[in-house]
Amino acid sequence: MTVTRAVVRGVGHYLPERVVENEEFVSIVDTSDEWIRTRSGIERRHFAAEGETTSDMAAKAGRAALDMAGMDASDVDAIVLATSTADLTFPSAATMVQAKLGTGGFAFDIQAVCAGFVFALSNANALIVSGQAKRVLVIGAETFSRILDMTDRTTCVLFGDGAGALLLEAEDGTGERTDRGVLATDLNSDGRFRDILYVDGGISTQTTGHLRMQGKEVFRHAVEKLAATAHKSLEKVGMTGDDVDWIVPHQANLRIIKGTASRMSVPMERVIVTVQDHGNTSAASIPLALSVGHARGQIQKGQVLVMEAIGGGLAWGSVVLRW
Ligand code: UT7
Repeated sequence: MTVTRAVVRGVGHYLPERVVENEEFVSIVDTSDEWIRTRSGIERRHFAAEGETTSDMAAKAGRAALDMAGMDASDVDAIVLATSTADLTFPSAATMVQAKLGTGGFAFDIQAVCAGFVFALSNANALIVSGQAKRVLVIGAETFSRILDMTDRTTCVLFGDGAGALLLEAEDGTGERTDRGVLATDLNSDGRFRDILYVDGGISTQTTGHLRMQGKEVFRHAVEKLAATAHKSLEKVGMTGDDVDWIVPHQANLRIIKGTASRMSVPMERVIVTVQDHGNTSAASIPLALSVGHARGQIQKGQVLVMEAIGGGLAWGSVVLRW
């Protein structure tokens, strides 16, 4: 039987030039490098320059993924961009990236906050498997620095900006040849928990608003829901934690990453960790970790990856992929 799979051809990322070390926050709010490191694992993060937008960063990450794939922009027939911090209310940041790169086809944004990349990847996979697109650029990009309340120490020290991208291509085949690419996905949301992580403004309230989070509450949900979704998508392809070469988790908190890996019985040696250098970049965190993990030589062809993420909504999910 012929099966179509969405296979990874390229990966890339972009981080803004400005690096903000934990120490910088000590003069802004009542905090310390020690508190931030021990509670979250974060040491530094990147902040976008004045005037630098989400679509600027997304286009750079997309360009890097195309370069690795050895493809031109004209080869791409869809862009799916996960972001909660688009440049404008409309059009989508994805169409801005389309114009910047010169791709054809169609482009749209997906908003599932920190879980955005797994939602985007799942949708891109569906476009490919259903034959609606052959080559899809899946991007996660955020400028969370623009929605931080710099007087709120419980949130402002945790987030950063950046972008990462994957270039997926349809591959038809039978047997081993079709064993690569996206193997399974699992998506969830539960709006009853919308008040524990949200932005207190928006288009219909005519404000931009700031990020508000009950960190402890989100933490309480995170480990349990992340391990559950990862198990669920692994089960769909008859796998367990033992079959996983790399967990590529959403990078919000090192303690959540460790707790989830432990519940999945996967040792930390098989987890890609970038939270110390990027902070929480929301929808950009997984593709950034994929790109950095690939550049470090950790992620290799044929390996099984499980990506998992949770964020505002609450929305959470996972993707199992053979690289
Ligand atoms: O990406 C979307 C999903 N988001 C997440 O997954 C984030 C989930 N939550 C977390 O990562 C953690 O809950 C935090 C890192 C946000 C906080 O860690 P925590 O261990 O849950 O700390 P806490 O909120 O219980 O706060 C402990 C103490 C409090 O003081 P008291 O009440 O014990 O006196 C806070 O006021 O730490 C205080 N605190 C700080 N102290 C120094 C909170 N923020 C800071 C700070 N510096 N920046």
